[in-house]
Amino acid sequence: MRIVLVDTNERLVQNWRNLMGNVSTARHSVLVMKGRLSILSGSQINKPAAVVSPGNSFGYLGGGFDLALREYFGGTKFEQYFREQLGDTYRTVGSTKVVPLNSWGRDGFEYIVYVPTVVAPSRPLFDAERPRETGFEPVFNAMWNALIHVPAGTQTLVIPGLCSGYAGVPLDISSKSMCFALRLYLIKNTISKDLQRVLILQFLGYNYAPFMDNDWEEECEAVGIDVRKLMKFDVANDSINEIMPII
Ligand code: ADP
Ligand code: NA
Ligand code: NA
Repeated sequence: MRIVLVDTNERLVQNWRNLMGNVSTARHSVLVMKGRLSILSGSQINKPAAVVSPGNSFGYLGGGFDLALREYFGGTKFEQYFREQLGDTYRTVGSTKVVPLNSWGRDGFEYIVYVPTVVAPSRPLFDAERPRETGFEPVFNAMWNALIHVPAGTQTLVIPGLCSGYAGVPLDISSKSMCFALRLYLIKNTISKDLQRVLILQFLGYNYAPFMDNDWEEECEAVGIDVRKLMKFDVANDSINEIMPII
């Protein structure tokens, strides 16, 4: 699968470039682009493609990246279709739903992966006093959910900044969580489930020994992770490079 990170925000895109580096694997590649959704061209989108909507809990498409989706796929008629597909109901921040585009699809896009990041855009999700719970964690969760719910066989997954607009999460926080989730996803089949679990727990700040049994410490050595650094990882201050396996 090709993962395309696209956003109009220059600083966010620069953060992605710094944090992603050259991380393509045999199965996946990553492309980082600055610009509007509509700049993506046929050569960057292989069919079937999906695009992530960092939406609101009711599926309105009136602002942010969702507005770009509405304009791209068919205006207010499309918005009506989209909300019907969501069951015209409340969907919680942190949930995920894959919406087929059916006849609304174009340019290879067949799905929207909807990961609501705000209930409504009237106030931000982010609270500077609780950056972990209202920033790092919800962004990681939205990104991880988008990646693991993408329909099997998807060739291209387009993702904008998550929580970096109306949700109000600072760019450094949003990009750090997005890139950690993506880098972990890219290597997820090359490390053990035990190490994957420890990395997620430590990134999110849940140092919980009962979930850290088994042989992950030895594996850390083999993949170039300093166990002590991993155990005292502080998401606000430490680089994700410190705890990413070198594979
Ligand atoms: P959230 O509610 O999760 O913050 P938004 O849709 O408000 O979601 O913003 C998500 C990201 O979408 C932001 O980083 C913003 O810069 C980006 N964005 C908004 N419109 C476009 C567009 N037309 N093309 C690309 N990126 C866009
Ligand atoms: Na949103
Ligand atoms: Na949005």
